[in-house]
Amino acid sequence: MPKDKINFYDDTKHFYEDFWIGRDYEHFSEVLALRNMLNKKHFKVAMDFGGGYGRLSDILLDYSDKVILVDPSTKQLNIAKDKFKNQKNIEYVLINKKNYIPAKDNSIDLLLMVRVSHHVPDPTKLFKDIYRVISPNGYALIEVASNAHFISRLKQYSKFKAVPKTPIKVGSVANGLRDETPFVNHNPETIISELKDCGFSLEKKLSVSNFRNRFLKTHFRLDQLLRAEKITQNQLAKINFGPSIFILVKK
Ligand SMILES: C[S@@+](CC[C@H](N)C(=O)[O-])C[C@H]1O[C@@H](n2cnc3c(N)ncnc32)[C@H](O)[C@@H]1O
Repeated sequence: MPKDKINFYDDTKHFYEDFWIGRDYEHFSEVLALRNMLNKKHFKVAMDFGGGYGRLSDILLDYSDKVILVDPSTKQLNIAKDKFKNQKNIEYVLINKKNYIPAKDNSIDLLLMVRVSHHVPDPTKLFKDIYRVISPNGYALIEVASNAHFISRLKQYSKFKAVPKTPIKVGSVANGLRDETPFVNHNPETIISELKDCGFSLEKKLSVSNFRNRFLKTHFRLDQLLRAEKITQNQLAKINFGPSIFILVKK
């Protein structure tokens, strides 16, 4: 196997779809964020980069003529092909070179990257490549698993420490499986400044899955949590409150 091949999501013992069982709140919070950020926009070509089995690809179809679903996992792409077998406007591309996007310069009007940055400890090269493929005035919508969320900050402050600007390695569901896929949480402000360094400008930031908490999830209905989520994503982004920060940047 080539050294840079990513195989965690190809592992026969790992079922990424099952991760989403019992996580409707998190899934629909992400859908809310996407719809908020893409509201009234329409694209010719959108890319779901590291899109896995296409959990969010059909949302992208509501905002674009064509979606290119790109992933390094053959297994995930095969699940997606089956799931979307009646959809004509989705194309599937397998990544075989790490941090390199299989697309021509200036050819993608929107690139979505959700739950991928936590597998990329040093995303600088990848961000430069995202900038390369995005068309002039095009967008990238990037989700960051945050090391600066409210609970994490409380933990750091209780030890009289500041939140690190650099990524933190986190425990991995890959433990026990046969590969070495990295799992890290990033500081969203560091990610924003890296994106700016590539030439992007910040359009919008949202704080997502703000009420991801076992107590809240068992004591409140999904619709109640999502109503609270919808009205707080914007405001709570100002203090990077949630575990997941969605960042919309423009070229
Ligand atoms: C947690 S899943 C997220 C899938 C999808 N974006 C979603 O939100 O459901 C992470 C996906 O990223 C892919 N991946 C892992 N490392 C990657 C990398 N360096 N570049 C692109 N994709 C990567 C994996 O194969 C996997 O399908």
